[in-house]
Amino acid sequence: MCGIIGGTGETPVLPLLVEGLRRLEYRGYDSAGIALPAHGTIWRRRKAGGTRSISELGEGVGDAPPGITCGIGHSRWATHGAPTEVNAHPHTDASGRLAIIHNGILENFRELTHDLPRRGAELVSETDTEVLAHLIAAEVAGGAGLADAVRTCLRRVEGKFAIAVIHADEPDLIVAARRSSPLVCGTDATTAYLASDIPAIHGKADRFYVIDDDRVVELTPGAIRVTDLQGSELVPEEREVTWDLAAAEKGGYPDFMSKEMYEQPAAVRDTLLGRIVQGRIALDQVRLSDEDLRMIDKVYVVACGSSYHAGLVGKQAIQHWCRLPVEVEIASEFRYQDPVLGRTSLVVAISQSGETIDTLEAVHHAKQQGAPVLAVCNVVDSSMARDADAVLYTRAGPEIGVASTKCHLAQLVAMQVLALYLAQVRGTSYPEEVAERLGHLEQIPQRVAAALESADTVKGIASAPDVRDARDFFFLGRGVGRAVALEGALKLKEISYLRAEGYPGGELKHGPIALIEPGTVVVAVATRSRLAGKVLSNVEEVKARGATVVLVVDERDVDVPAVRKLADHIIPLPGTGHELFQPIVDNIPLQLFAYALATARGNDVDKPRNLAKVVTVE
Ligand code: AGP
Repeated sequence: MCGIIGGTGETPVLPLLVEGLRRLEYRGYDSAGIALPAHGTIWRRRKAGGTRSISELGEGVGDAPPGITCGIGHSRWATHGAPTEVNAHPHTDASGRLAIIHNGILENFRELTHDLPRRGAELVSETDTEVLAHLIAAEVAGGAGLADAVRTCLRRVEGKFAIAVIHADEPDLIVAARRSSPLVCGTDATTAYLASDIPAIHGKADRFYVIDDDRVVELTPGAIRVTDLQGSELVPEEREVTWDLAAAEKGGYPDFMSKEMYEQPAAVRDTLLGRIVQGRIALDQVRLSDEDLRMIDKVYVVACGSSYHAGLVGKQAIQHWCRLPVEVEIASEFRYQDPVLGRTSLVVAISQSGETIDTLEAVHHAKQQGAPVLAVCNVVDSSMARDADAVLYTRAGPEIGVASTKCHLAQLVAMQVLALYLAQVRGTSYPEEVAERLGHLEQIPQRVAAALESADTVKGIASAPDVRDARDFFFLGRGVGRAVALEGALKLKEISYLRAEGYPGGELKHGPIALIEPGTVVVAVATRSRLAGKVLSNVEEVKARGATVVLVVDERDVDVPAVRKLADHIIPLPGTGHELFQPIVDNIPLQLFAYALATARGNDVDKPRNLAKVVTVE
């Protein structure tokens, strides 16, 4: 999830670009860069310094050619290639007279490299974007105008993009385009603007335009021209913007947590994007050979908090698809249990930040014992990604809210991809079976979007007196539903400050059921699985003791007599085609439930008391 900004008008554009990137910082900040068409060439400056990138860039453009009124800027959240200056956008062609910025993933960029000119198109970066710079430049060199060159190349591109391109031959023109990645354009009397999000140009443009997929926008001072990929002109739809800047940075949502909950379909989709290369699953970085992985006879998953809950689901996926024994350990406990590790033990470390000290220490212990380590991380080149022997990146984009939502869902998806990857390498599943299961997974984003539609139902339940006034919550689930129950309890605890326990449903009668009394709220995950019937039996036990029951069920089961008899409140959800995928959807209403109770109590859901987004102390 990167940030792009651009402008072309009658006044110097540099201040707009620097301020725009600062406003887009929440979209990612591994590196930042600016490019201006100036005096027959492109002037470019880039910085790769993590959170300092944008501020360092702002301080480092004092030597830019003065008075340039057209330009583009980019802040990067790395997906392809390490967050180095070489990989920072804007990227240029070999002549240095064309520059491009890009937010998204070009799925077929490897194939597109075959179309590069034989000479003069040596790639200097590891990015997919640079390939497009060379391809567009080749079209311009062949006599095409910049806009036509962009259209020609985009007709060959697969994947998602929001791009902006400039060329020294047309110094007042910016050509932008989008597919799936966000792009907003705007104008005022003298300037045309483009950005990933409204905040970057809020208070600058006075008219905003919705840009649809597969549209190309030609920006000239004070005007935009929109066409399709074939060049047919279209009339852009104007968009009214009434937000203030603070609301605009949250995309109009009241807080980052709700914005990130609604980014979950995209986070799931992006984590799956481009995973199949030449018919086989590809990880992001693998310094482990297939032979190393075939020698593995046990897997240990180490993580904390929500990442630990993702590990519990991952365990079942790996055992199911690979028939490999898996142990899931709380990272802070792992190394003190004297685990028996060696070259044939694969340690999978799950961490959205890649900086959690407990998990990092578990990784270091594993490496000291000679065990190979695979990291599942959301931050490219984080400490854990650098220490691991292989990395599978979730592509959820920056998660600002302390309570993990979209990153947790992306981790659930990543663990399914990892299980299928191991099955593919170890031969416990045929490639066509792996591809078929990935195909099922690729249906999940719309199920996640459908589950988000339960928000009003959940809000109504959370405001019902028998729930709103409760002070004691249990979350029950079985099998993979247990991990969902644990995660639901954690969400409620960490943002509403209410006491909540997540429990395997079958365990309640071994003690905790003594706590159940009238007024206790029990949320049970009873979506379709081999164990759904047993969950309902466990719910009978708590119902008999006066609990208020909230049942999370498959939308096809809401009229089942047992559901009707037991539930005080019902949350219907879509199925996902396989019980191992169901947690990706089942977590949604529990996030919304915690959010509704927390906001009703006036809590700051983005910055809950006592918590930090990254725990860097043991
Ligand atoms: C999740 O809502 C919490 N904020 C917390 O449990 C988090 O999952 C845990 O600290 C692990 O963080 P990591 O994924 O960055 O390692």
